[in-house]
Amino acid sequence: MNILVVNGPNLRLLGTREPAIYGDETLADIMRHLTAYASERGVRIEAFQSDIEGELVDEIGAAWGSYDGIIINPAAYTHTSVAIRDAIKACRLPTVEVHLSNTHTREVFRHTSLTVPVCIGQVMGFGGHGYVLALDGLLRHLETIKQERIK
Ligand code: DQA
Repeated sequence: MNILVVNGPNLRLLGTREPAIYGDETLADIMRHLTAYASERGVRIEAFQSDIEGELVDEIGAAWGSYDGIIINPAAYTHTSVAIRDAIKACRLPTVEVHLSNTHTREVFRHTSLTVPVCIGQVMGFGGHGYVLALDGLLRHLETIKQERIK
C-alpha cells in the first residue's frame, strides 16, 4: 500500500510559523511520526511539499498507478484553488483533506474549502496528529472498497 501525502504553501515553515495556531512540530517531525505509524501497518508514505500551485497539480495528476490514496493539506490553496480541486477529481484516487487548525474558528475566508467536496473526508483541528487520523480513515476506506470488490 502506497500513500501520497501532499502539503501546500508555507507548511515547510511549520515549527516557527504561528506556533500558537499550528503548534511547534516541524513538517519533518509530522511526516516522521506518520511514516512510523504507517510502516507498522505495512503502508509506505511518500511526502511532497510545494508552495507552487502548478507543482501540486502536477504531483496529484501523476499519482494514479503509483499510489492507492492521497492525504492532502492544500493549505491556503484550500480556499482558492479550482485547479487543485480538479486535479483531485481527475486523479480518481480516494483523498482525505487535513488541516492542522480548525479553520471554522478562524477568519471567514478560511471557512470555505473548494477541495473538500472532491475528497472522501476531512480532518481538522488536531495539529499534526490529524495526518495519522486521516491515514486511519483512508485505510479503512480502502479496505471497505476491497471487500466490496470481493463480494
Ligand atoms: C491550514 C489552514 C489554512 O487556512 C492555512 O492557509 C494554512 C494551513 C491548516 O493546516 O490549518 O496554511 O491548511
